[in-house]
Amino acid sequence: MIKIDYTNAMAETIGERDGILREELLSFRHFVVETHTLIQKEKERKFYFCKLPYQDTTEIKEFAEHIRENFEYFVVIGIGGSSLGAKMLFESLTDLNYNIEKSPKFFLLENVDPEKFDSILRQIDIKKTCFNVVTKSGSTVETIANFSIILSMLKKELGDRYREHLVFTTDPEKGFLRKFGASEGIKMFGIPPKVGGRFSVLSPVGLLPAAVLGIDIDQLLAGAKKMDLVCSIEEHVEHNPAYLIALIHYITNMRRGKTISVMMPYAEKLASFVDWYRQLWAESLGKDGLGQTPVKAIGTVDQHSQIQLYRDGIRDKIITFIQVDKMNTDYSIPDELPEDIAYLTGHSLHEILNKELLGTKAALIKSKVPNITVILDEINPYNIGMLIYMYELATGFSGYLYKINPFDQPAVEEGKNFTYALMGRKGYEEKLEEFKELYRE
Ligand code: PA5
Repeated sequence: MIKIDYTNAMAETIGERDGILREELLSFRHFVVETHTLIQKEKERKFYFCKLPYQDTTEIKEFAEHIRENFEYFVVIGIGGSSLGAKMLFESLTDLNYNIEKSPKFFLLENVDPEKFDSILRQIDIKKTCFNVVTKSGSTVETIANFSIILSMLKKELGDRYREHLVFTTDPEKGFLRKFGASEGIKMFGIPPKVGGRFSVLSPVGLLPAAVLGIDIDQLLAGAKKMDLVCSIEEHVEHNPAYLIALIHYITNMRRGKTISVMMPYAEKLASFVDWYRQLWAESLGKDGLGQTPVKAIGTVDQHSQIQLYRDGIRDKIITFIQVDKMNTDYSIPDELPEDIAYLTGHSLHEILNKELLGTKAALIKSKVPNITVILDEINPYNIGMLIYMYELATGFSGYLYKINPFDQPAVEEGKNFTYALMGRKGYEEKLEEFKELYRE
């Protein structure tokens, strides 16, 4: 179960200069009802990610089981929307010691940093490794470069049996990887064409790695379905969590100058959830001179690094805290402590964590910094499924608020195209000329 406490973003608590007036929030009700109708109609097109919770996962689960039974290592090769979802599911829904205690051990090859590449290679045995190459376009330079090296290593070590060590997740029809996979007879999963990279975590992009890691993907999708249900029937802005999150961020951004959205979970396991959110919020809404810069912070660690700025520095932030009510384990502070620190006796680490969160919120209220809290009763697949869907829908809805298309990423494509040109890809000759014009050394 998840709850949202937005009291501290409201003018009643932090004043009208930084907080939202209730009537201001409610003034969007007609907009919300109209947009809600549009979104329901768009579920077969732009909002296709809304359909993902209802997919049949039999094939994913069967193939994941095959990988679990036959391999000691599992490596996802992908980047951006093709890796952040799997990373987020891995870190939030498996034990923090997963790679020490469990199998298949999991690694991500995202960057083209040779030292990182080498460090992963040194931790795996390629003969016991399954590589899941994930790329919607089938051609992203980082992914294809990493894959090409792995492919030649696999061929050298395993001859014709290299195929058994590969599974591709890519466009169902187009792109280099689809063509290559079809000609080589490699197992492949399709990414629904209408689902963009950063909205694809609940497709085979995230679900196959999750199932390989032993995460209950049925529960993940059940949580997403529940959120879909709540958000499909609730048109009232204060009862629809996705629209509420979107509106709070939009109003504080456009009317109160909060150009930065900090997400600060008080649970180390949710650190990668913030990375996933950062991409979703930044790449979807950063358009036409608009958007809100998402920033990552971790409680309590960043209390000792960032809170000075958040409280007392430039007044350009809205903070989202994530609170977890129950953790899998806890440790109590022992009795018989020296008098100076005896106040801690009888308390637990988790209790301190959440008291620190309360203390930080009080300090922010005092400085009139708008903040909301997303409260999870615990970190489990169901709740993470709800959270994923809520933020995806909030992002899609925000597109209507900002009047931009949240589902494209032309500025990202531009950089990718210059890279293709610089690496000598055929068909990018004009781009190379443009580069030379722009970048005179
Ligand atoms: O959200 C997006 O569309 C991007 O971040 C892509 O996911 C990223 O660039 C990787 O693209 P691809 O999956 O085509 O390799």
